[in-house]
Amino acid sequence: MGLKIGIFDSGLGGLTVLRELLNVSQGVEYYYLGDTARVPYGIRSKRTVIKYSLQCAQFLNKFEIDLLIVACNTASAHALETIKKNYPHLRVEGVILPAALEVANLKPSRVGIIGTPSTIGSGIYKKLIGRFLPNSKILQKATPLLVPLVEEGLNETPLAQEVLKHYLLEWENQIDLLVLGCTHYPLLEENIKRLFPRWEIVNSARPLAKALKPFLENKVNKPNKINLFFTDQSAFLESFLTHIGIRGEIERIEILRWEE
Ligand code: DGL
Repeated sequence: MGLKIGIFDSGLGGLTVLRELLNVSQGVEYYYLGDTARVPYGIRSKRTVIKYSLQCAQFLNKFEIDLLIVACNTASAHALETIKKNYPHLRVEGVILPAALEVANLKPSRVGIIGTPSTIGSGIYKKLIGRFLPNSKILQKATPLLVPLVEEGLNETPLAQEVLKHYLLEWENQIDLLVLGCTHYPLLEENIKRLFPRWEIVNSARPLAKALKPFLENKVNKPNKINLFFTDQSAFLESFLTHIGIRGEIERIEILRWEE
């Protein structure tokens, strides 16, 4: 039997993590839950993020998964430890530690971190990277307009460019590496590279897939199977899936009836 992996995010952003995992896995059955009814998590309190995240974990655990991936920085920042405590026999991975380790490997002397207000407010990236690179300068900033831009498919537009400039222009000569501390932001990566070609960019989807590669690859020589669940309809789901180019077989897309 192949592996079963559960993944959740507050909405569509975690699909960027799924995409990276699909690139390094075969024969895995994926169960993705996007909490589209309650996105964004990034403006909510720790208590609420933990509550929502536990509900997502509970839903995915029913599929007898071997691994649970918290594909949301906000949930990783606030709820990872609680989920681990609630599911002691389940392997649970978040996106923040692999990204921070990737930054540590690259040893930049000046780092900028962007994320949701809740992730940045937790200070977790700054703390971890600061521990790995005690002599580096580390700046951080909440960039709340970026999630709605991405959810609405506006990531490649002049509007996105203006918003990115609004947040990032002041860092142009102040940092050498930018951490995209939100799983929605990889869809803005090309735009950021065009605006700030000198910066190295670490997104929070790739390092996790890289870290899990030995665990995922060469398991079963079959296509991956993908089951997508959402807690509400999203007008942007189809275009988002096409845009990020999810490979493999989508077995089902189901809108759940929670909270009714
Ligand atoms: N994808 C979430 C993250 O990585 C952000 C979206 C939200 O605010 O819910 O933090």
